[in-house]
Amino acid sequence: MMSFSGWAYDASIGSLLRGMRLWVAAYVRENGLFPALDLCTGTGAMCRIFDNESSRPVWGLDLDGRLLRYARSQAPSVPFVQADAARLPIRAGGFRSVIISYALHDKSPHLRKAMMTEVRRVLHRQGRALFVDFERPWDMRSRIGRVFTYGIERTAGGDHFRNGQQFLHEEGGLSTFLSSHGWEELESRPLPWGNSRIVVSRFLD
Ligand SMILES: C[S@@+](CC[C@H](N)C(=O)[O-])C[C@H]1O[C@@H](n2cnc3c(N)ncnc32)[C@H](O)[C@@H]1O
Repeated sequence: MMSFSGWAYDASIGSLLRGMRLWVAAYVRENGLFPALDLCTGTGAMCRIFDNESSRPVWGLDLDGRLLRYARSQAPSVPFVQADAARLPIRAGGFRSVIISYALHDKSPHLRKAMMTEVRRVLHRQGRALFVDFERPWDMRSRIGRVFTYGIERTAGGDHFRNGQQFLHEEGGLSTFLSSHGWEELESRPLPWGNSRIVVSRFLD
């Protein structure tokens, strides 16, 4: 995640994502999709939206130890695991929901593919994956949003920026990426100012 500290990320970009996080958490809660896993959790902001009662557990996972130290300091009751999303130390079918927010576009095609295989493996048969990521702009607001998110992605630079460009222009953005990987869209919510979408999906056997 760029070169931001956890605090700076939460105070800037993170604050813009609060509405999205509330929607995702409400969906998980209303559909009883626990235990939930926030994959590539970063600062753990998604996990903090949940009340994290023991009957409704939410886990966070990321590879970056520095971000996880920050995440733990903000939410001591949440179990945060340091691991590679391409090789999850989790048994098959262990989670009723997996949340992947803005954590596909920045990865290489190879890592993305491995992550999708792992999401499918750790998701319970009746489970749901909730993806949030960039779409190709589809109306005036999302075109304006794209100018803004392009600036953020450009600042991130390096592989993150290149992978993000590849995700939009070669994979076609989130919805196209999911359908071409065998995921059925059950519900979705557009986020035009972020040229993004929340997609609730299940894997088609
Ligand atoms: C753009 S951030 C998204 C953070 C968070 N989901 C959010 O909505 O704010 C992508 C995250 O993926 C994590 N990451 C990168 N490679 C990873 C890997 N192989 N396994 C697990 N996490 C990884 C980074 O450390 C970073 O926190």
